[in-house]
This record gives sequence, C-alpha cells and structure tokens, in this order.
Amino acid sequence: MLIYLDNAATSFPKPEAMYAFMDQFYRRAGVNPGRSGYDLCIEAGQLVEDTRRLLAGLFGLREPHHLTFAYNSTDALNLAIFGLLRPGDHAISTTLEHNSVIRPLNHAARDLGVEVEFVPFGADGFVDPDDIAGRFRSNTRLVAVNHASNVIGTVQPVADIGRLCRERGITMLIDASQTAGKVPIDLEAMNLDIVAFTGHKSLFGPTGIGGLCLRNGVQIRHTRAGGTGVRSVEPYHLDEFPYRLEYGTVNLLGVAGLHAGVTWLLERGQHTVHEQEMRLITRLRNGLRSIDGVTLYCQDDLRDHIGVLVFNVDGYEAADVGTMLDVDHDIACRTGLHCAPLLHRQLGTESIHGAVRLSVGPFNTEAHIDAAIEAVREIAATRRPAPSVVPAAQR
Ligand SMILES: Cc1ncc(COP(=O)(O)O)c(C=O)c1O
Repeated sequence: MLIYLDNAATSFPKPEAMYAFMDQFYRRAGVNPGRSGYDLCIEAGQLVEDTRRLLAGLFGLREPHHLTFAYNSTDALNLAIFGLLRPGDHAISTTLEHNSVIRPLNHAARDLGVEVEFVPFGADGFVDPDDIAGRFRSNTRLVAVNHASNVIGTVQPVADIGRLCRERGITMLIDASQTAGKVPIDLEAMNLDIVAFTGHKSLFGPTGIGGLCLRNGVQIRHTRAGGTGVRSVEPYHLDEFPYRLEYGTVNLLGVAGLHAGVTWLLERGQHTVHEQEMRLITRLRNGLRSIDGVTLYCQDDLRDHIGVLVFNVDGYEAADVGTMLDVDHDIACRTGLHCAPLLHRQLGTESIHGAVRLSVGPFNTEAHIDAAIEAVREIAATRRPAPSVVPAAQR
C-alpha cells in the first residue's frame, strides 16, 4: 500500500466530500456560470460567488470581489508581478522563493528593466524583516515573500515585513501556496496587499484552480484581455473587479472542488489539521535525526514550520534515495531542487542535486511516519562508501 508523503506537491488523497461534490455539481449544473439568466446558469454563478466569499473570509479580505480566480498560484503570481511592475521599478524578494516567483521576477528584470534583489535567509531558515527594509529604495514597488518554504518549511514573519512595507507605501505580496488553509492569513491584520494561493495543496481542492486576493487600493493592471460575460460592447478589458484579472470562462469544476475542499477543512478545523501535521513531522524529524549519516536542514526548532522537511543521506544522491523509497518501500516523496534553486544554492545542496523532501497531510498516520523512518534507516545503513580519490597520475 502506497505511503504518500508528497503533500507539499499536492495533497492526496482529497477529502471524499470533494470528489463527490465535483461529480454531483458538474453533472447537475456544469453550465457556463454567470453568462445567462436561466436557473442552472444562476446556480453555477452563485457557486462561484459563494466560493469567492468563502475564500475571502478565510484570508481576511474585506471585499470578496477583489478575489480573482486563476489556474494556480503560478498563474496568480504572474498576474500580480506583471500587473504591478513597470520599467525602472525595484523589487525585493528572497532566496526562499519558488520558481513561480523567481522566474517572473527574472523576466521582469530581463524584459522590463526592473531591478530585482533576492535577500538570503538566516541559518535558522527565516528572513530578517530588517534585511528587507534595509534594501528599500525610492523606486521599490514590490516585496514578494514565500510565506512558507516548500523545502525547509519555515513560516516567514510576513506581518512584520508587511508593516515595514506599509510604512513606505510598498506593495507586499505573499506566495501562500504552502500556507493557505494551514497557517492563518489575515490580509488586513497582517499588512498584506496581495495573497496568491493555489487550490490543490492545503485547501484540498483539485489542480487547475487558485487565485489572488487584492487589498482595496492596490494598483494593478490587467495583462490579458478577453470575455467577461458582461458589458460586451466595451472594446477593452474591464477595469472593475472581479473582471479586471479574470479572463474567459472560470474553471467551474475546479471552483466546485475548491468549495468542497475548503468546506471540509473548515469543518475539521484549520488548527486541528495543522496541529496533526506538526505532530507527525516532529515525529519524523526526531526519528530521522537519530539516524547516522542523515543530514536535516533547518529543522532544529519546529515552531513556525509547516509539515515539510528535507534531508540527505551521506553517500547517496537525493534521487537515489527517492528511488529506493519508492521501489523498495512504496513511499512517495519528492527529490531534487523542488523548484527552489536559490534556496538549494544557499544551503549548499545545489551541487549535490538537492535533497529528499517528505511532506505530510491530514490522511497520514503515525504508522506511515514510522515506516518512513525505518526505510531511511535501512537506506542509510547500506550507504555507499564515499568515492575514493584516485590520484590524477593513476587515472
Ligand atoms: C511555495 C510555492 N510557490 C508556488 C508553487 C506553485 O504552485 P502551483 O504549481 O499550484 O502553481 C508551489 C508549488 O509547488 C510552491 O510550493
């Protein structure tokens, strides 16, 4: 039986209620939402607006129509970054970022002439808000921070960074891909301007749906144009929300699944789910750190963490450990750079092709964790001797 420890990639399985609701809703009312006045169309449109409200409530967004649906957080982050930045701007981010932030920022630097800086994190895995504020310039328009690292799991002090940004009128964006649904997010109370989220991780929706929350007053342009279903006579894309950043038919099936996933989460309790995951990851951390030859990264103190950890086994490439976990132990994990090359460069793990990541979800049990610890113990016990160095003259 597969032990799934790759929940940071996508949560799996999903709650049964999510599968059931997607099937029922799409069979019964899977029409184009909000485009016409017949009953099914109104019902489909209502689900979209209910989901907007549900998510706005979850993120402390006062204006639900400022929640834009997108395909996933990558799409949402692109909408935000290219909707905000202009030639000559300065943007600050961190080395904790996912390529969903790094690459759009690099494109903005190369293609728009935006200056971009990536601030390193400390040895404990956290960025220091003052390190970010120390780089503010008169032309700094954006600070973009990964709320929780998808590699080392540290939850960043985004409210403190947000406060510093707010004092300077700089837009503060968080990538909440790993935290939405797990770590409380209150856009207003935490001084955030933009929150980008994905539906298929800890919101327990399907893939292909995510979004962007925009605090009232954030100056953002649309970067695409198309149908909105309303005011069709307008020759250009509408500026009003929610249409400003939404283009074409929304992913209704995805919205239905996201609605059911979030409803399930709220019934179970965000805190309960997070606590359970932290109990499991603590057990895993304790087990792995007792194994000779295993190196863990930034896992000494698990306060302000999510249920994600990375490690390496001496003498093995991360990918080999992943293959052994899969083939010999039926454990699913993720190896490599985890789309976070700057982080691995800073950890010194880039040159050894990354690390092995295990990440838990609400359907994992202590038995899964114990099996993973025993599997890594077995792999570490059989580790290859370090390659002996052959003098150049004998090669
Ligand atoms: C921190 C972070 N940002 C962005 C993403 C991209 O999410 P998606 O593939 O849903 O766009 C991920 C997903 O792995 C992530 O962990």
